[in-house]
Amino acid sequence: MELPKHVNKARALFIGISVVSIVVFLILTIQTGYAISERHPKITQQVVAGKYVFHAKNCMDCHTILGDGAYYAADLTKIISQRGEGFVRSVLKNPPEVTAQLWSGEYKRRMPDMHLTNKEIDDLIAFFKWMDKVNTNGWPPGSEIYTGEVKAPKINKAKNEGAELIKKLNCGLCHTIKSDELNLSGKIGPDLSNQKLRNRSDEWLTKQLLNPHSIPDSEVVKGYEGKQKLMPSYKKRLSENELKALVSYLKNLKEDK
Ligand code: HEC
Ligand code: HEC
Repeated sequence: MELPKHVNKARALFIGISVVSIVVFLILTIQTGYAISERHPKITQQVVAGKYVFHAKNCMDCHTILGDGAYYAADLTKIISQRGEGFVRSVLKNPPEVTAQLWSGEYKRRMPDMHLTNKEIDDLIAFFKWMDKVNTNGWPPGSEIYTGEVKAPKINKAKNEGAELIKKLNCGLCHTIKSDELNLSGKIGPDLSNQKLRNRSDEWLTKQLLNPHSIPDSEVVKGYEGKQKLMPSYKKRLSENELKALVSYLKNLKEDK
C-alpha cells in the first residue's frame, strides 16, 4: 500500500531530527567527559583513606563539604587554602583548644576532641588537599578569592588599601588590630596594633606574608615561637601591588592615642 506523501515527509523529518539530536548528544557526552577529568586531580590511596576517616568520624554531623552535611560549623571544601595546612593540622591535633581561640567573647563553639591518630590526621589532610584542588566553580561562596581562578572583588582604592586587604583576607581570625579603620580581636597570633614599633623591614614583612615558616624562632614575637606554621602563606592570594600596599600598611601601623 502506498503511503500518502505527507507521511513520507514526516518520516524523513523524524529521522533527520533524530540523527542531529544523537550527534549533538554524543558530542556533549564526550566533551563533558573531558571537562570532568580536568575538574578533579588524581585520587591517591591516601586521599581515599582520608575520605573514610571523614565519614567514620562523622565530621558531617557538624560540618559541610561541597555544601553537604550539617550547618553547625564551617564548610571544609576549601579549608586548606582558607586557613593553611598548618592551621588545619593543629585544629585536628587539639580541636577544643584551637577552636576556642577562633571566637572572641565569652561564648565559644568548640570542636570536641575526635581522638585522631597521626595517620588519620595525615590522611584527612591529603583528602582536604585533594578537595581543595577540585574546581568547584567558586563553592563555597567567598572561597573564590583564594583559588585565584575567579577575580577577587574590587578594592575601593579611595579607602586605605592595606586595611581593606586585611578585612578581605580575614587576618582578624588570628590577629588583634585596633586602628582608625580596623577593630579586630583575633587571639591566635600576636597583636599587630603597634606593628610599627617592631621595626620590621619591608623584606622581613614580605617574608612573613609569603612564607611564615621561614621566620626563625629567634625572630618571632616572644611567646609565639613554633607557631609560624599556624599562619597561612598569602603567596597565591596577593598581587605584587597588593603585597606592597599591605607591607607598607603593616609597617606604619600604630594605635591612635
Ligand atoms: C560536634 C561538632 C563537630 C564535629 C563532629 C567536628 N567538628 Fe570540626 N569544628 C567544630 C566547631 C564548633 C569548630 C569551630 C567553629 C567553626 O569552624 O565553625 C570546628 C572547626 C573545625 C576546623 C577549622 C575550621 C576553621 O574555620 O578554621 C576544621 C578543619 C575541622 N573542624 C575539621 C573537622 C574534622 C576533620 C572533623 C571530623 C574528624 C570534625 N571537624 C568534626 C565542630 C565539630
Ligand atoms: C590562622 C592564623 C593566622 C592568620 C589567618 C594570619 N596570621 Fe599572621 N601570624 C599568626 C601567628 C601564629 C603568628 C606568630 C608566628 C609568626 O611570626 O609566624 C603571626 C605573625 C604575623 C606577623 C609577624 C609580626 C612580627 O612582627 O613578628 C605579621 C606581620 C602578621 N602575622 C600579619 C598577618 C596578616 C597581614 C595576615 C592576613 C593577611 C595574617 N597575619 C593572617 C597567625 C595568623
